[in-house]
Amino acid sequence: MQPQQSAVDVGDEQISHSDLEGFSKIHIDEVIEYVNSGLRSIPPPLDLYRRYLRQRWDVYELDFTQDRIDWAERMTDDELDVFQRVASGFHHGERNVEAELPTFMMGADEEDKVFISSHLEDEARHTVFFDRFFTEAVGLDEGSLMDVLDSSYELRSNAGPGVTGLLSYVSDELAKDPYNPRNRVRYATIYHLFIEGVGALSTMKITPGYCRRRGFLPAYYKGFTATCRDEARHVQYGMGFLQDSIRKAPALAEDVYEMLRTILDMNSANGNQASFEVLGLNTEEVRRFNIVQLTRKLADVGIPLPSDLQEVINRMYPEVTGG
Ligand SMILES: [Fe+2]
Ligand SMILES: [Fe+2]
Repeated sequence: MQPQQSAVDVGDEQISHSDLEGFSKIHIDEVIEYVNSGLRSIPPPLDLYRRYLRQRWDVYELDFTQDRIDWAERMTDDELDVFQRVASGFHHGERNVEAELPTFMMGADEEDKVFISSHLEDEARHTVFFDRFFTEAVGLDEGSLMDVLDSSYELRSNAGPGVTGLLSYVSDELAKDPYNPRNRVRYATIYHLFIEGVGALSTMKITPGYCRRRGFLPAYYKGFTATCRDEARHVQYGMGFLQDSIRKAPALAEDVYEMLRTILDMNSANGNQASFEVLGLNTEEVRRFNIVQLTRKLADVGIPLPSDLQEVINRMYPEVTGG
């Protein structure tokens, strides 16, 4: 199987019903757009749960034999370096959100708990996907899931705590008072809105875009594209949760703004910007995509953008983090 070189225009229906093999024919950009298309009318949690049951894929169906050959023989040292830095950011992001999500589930309504259980399983599967990639394609033969995570951590370009460190802090606060609506809105802002809806989405095109253009790493391409489709359910659920919370208590919009100010302060203080040019992606393009995603998400939640935030948003840069 070789990923196709040219873009294939596919509708939401085809993405929605694709099996794992079918993802080799679907362009990653179409799947990223699919995440946003569902936001026009956000489905309730049990509808998203039904969609999960239909879209769930088996991470053990992927065969990394060709990926291992491509990794060892066909990629340049510079490409390997940037690729594994980006993939490592996702590997740790997936594991981090898998570990933190139960705190958000504790104070949720019953319908929401059913959906969040499926979301948690998605994130566990994404963690296994990156574990398989790092052991079977890259060749980190380390043993346990944690051993592989420890080894891939070294590969990250920006190994500081970053936004996932802040997520751990917000999760700890939520664990102390899991029914507190302000804590829940702060959590959904950093996780569902920012990490999944902005950070992961804008950097998701980098590695699969490279695989597609070069015809390399077919199992990685299929697994990552299927991962991106899973994100559509997570982001749609999160935007629905925020919309609903603010409709019931409009003052909670201030918690969304405060959380975003903290995240964007961290983002601008961190001067170690990643460059994706070696994988054929213009970093400025990714940066602009980042800004569009954040502006869109706030519009989806239905709250205006204060002018101080707009100014900081215009200066933000891409941060690789999985969700
Ligand atoms: Fe996710
Ligand atoms: Fe994920």
